[in-house]
Amino acid sequence: MIPGSAGKEKSVFRSYIEVRRVQEEDVNSIFQIAASVGTGEKDSSQGFLVDDYSSDPEYYKDKFKELSKRLDHFYVAENVTSKRRKQIVGFLIGYTKEQWLEDNPTWIEDVHWHPSFDQHRLNNFLVIDKTAIQSYLTGHGIGSELYKRLITDIRAKNIETILAETIISPTPNFASLAFRKKQDYHLAGVRYENYSGDTYTDLVYYKDISNFY
Ligand SMILES: CC(C)(COP(=O)(O)OP(=O)(O)OC[C@H]1O[C@@H](n2cnc3c(N)ncnc32)[C@H](O)[C@@H]1OP(=O)(O)O)[C@@H](O)C(=O)NCCC(=O)NCCS
Repeated sequence: MIPGSAGKEKSVFRSYIEVRRVQEEDVNSIFQIAASVGTGEKDSSQGFLVDDYSSDPEYYKDKFKELSKRLDHFYVAENVTSKRRKQIVGFLIGYTKEQWLEDNPTWIEDVHWHPSFDQHRLNNFLVIDKTAIQSYLTGHGIGSELYKRLITDIRAKNIETILAETIISPTPNFASLAFRKKQDYHLAGVRYENYSGDTYTDLVYYKDISNFY
């Protein structure tokens, strides 16, 4: 358990934030959070998920359910009130290298790696595919709590590198870019992808966690 009062507006959390592994029955809450930041309107300053979750709720719920059963590093953050009521307020989806390449077999070749990036890091890594916090609760430290739990777990597996992408075109995700900076990520490369007929540009970042114990 993590002591409460995380973040800026401490009055929001009178008790504490608890991070745990996802369970299959969390899917509706996860979908609702994803839909709160993944809409048809992309707000650069608030941050967003690329997909529009309202376009096909059942598809996305099935996808979250499948991932909840398959992935070791899919977590939810719960706000636990003084009366022990729990509400899921955020989630993080991480893939081990094997899981990521199973779903995205050409990903390593698709990235234009920056010359300064040490490609030995690609021997073992974890990819954070999605982090999302309930839209009206961002900026209160919940994302950081999810990271702490993830890092504790993957350091126990001797993983030293986290990789994550942030979209910069056609709409830049400034909240995500700021979060990467705060989390001490460094630029690793660039990837272009085709999505719904458009070309998207993603910055690929890495975070060195070898010194986290
Ligand atoms: C990006 C996100 C996961 C961060 O989680 P969070 O709980 O808000 O982050 P924390 O409170 O732990 O850390 C806050 C830091 O994130 C960044 N940040 C979060 N929201 C921001 C916003 N709207 N604008 C600018 N920076 C923002 C800042 O660096 C901030 O640091 P500061 O408080 O010192 O300014 C969350 O804002 C979110 O879900 N955004 C919408 C979905 C999204 O963009 N996902 C991409 C994931 S990287």
